[in-house]
Amino acid sequence: MSTAVARLDPKFISLVWAGPERAVEVAEMHGQLFQPAWNEASMQETLSHPGSIAFMARVREGADALPEPAGFVIGQIAADEAEILSIGVLPKFQRRGVGTLLIEGLARAAKRSEVNRLFLEVAADNQSAFELYRSCGFTAVGMRKGYYERAGAEPQDALVLALPLDR
Ligand SMILES: CC(C)(COP(=O)(O)OP(=O)(O)OC[C@H]1O[C@@H](n2cnc3c(N)ncnc32)[C@H](O)[C@@H]1OP(=O)(O)O)[C@@H](O)C(=O)NCCC(=O)NCCS
Repeated sequence: MSTAVARLDPKFISLVWAGPERAVEVAEMHGQLFQPAWNEASMQETLSHPGSIAFMARVREGADALPEPAGFVIGQIAADEAEILSIGVLPKFQRRGVGTLLIEGLARAAKRSEVNRLFLEVAADNQSAFELYRSCGFTAVGMRKGYYERAGAEPQDALVLALPLDR
């Protein structure tokens, strides 16, 4: 398990709504974190969906620094539920509170859209993501056996996690 490093002052982290016009920036970050990466066209399609709810985080390392892309969260609203489809924070900014702010921002926006519950799937061996979700209040509500297929490796189970959004 990695050690926590200094949290960023939240005043240096900004959340920006990620509509289709941000597809290039978000796809670039996604490509640094996930295999297979979503290309620009599929990112644009995802962010154009009417139920899409997505943010990117930008960080300034100090009052005089320029903001840099640091992470993203992409969700999809369906009726009174929203699914987190993907979340990622670039390695340089991990363990500094950006992922938490992205989830909190998404949860606030979802609540304003009358969403009652957030849910997501996470690979059973993705401890950092599981710990992030747990620290944000998600609990396990199910498991999908062999959900993630991986080249040259055994399929990995997915945990289904949920977070009720209190009104
Ligand atoms: C998972 C991920 C989004 C977390 O983002 P982050 O900005 O590092 O998360 P935070 O700094 O807000 O961490 C909040 C809490 O989550 C837990 N956590 C996060 N990373 C952790 C790690 N590597 N090991 C253990 N706990 C971790 C801790 O409880 C942490 O609180 P603490 O630092 O006070 O102990 C990031 O590690 C990432 O992008 N990973 C690669 C992509 C990925 O796996 N995405 C999720 C797919 S479901």
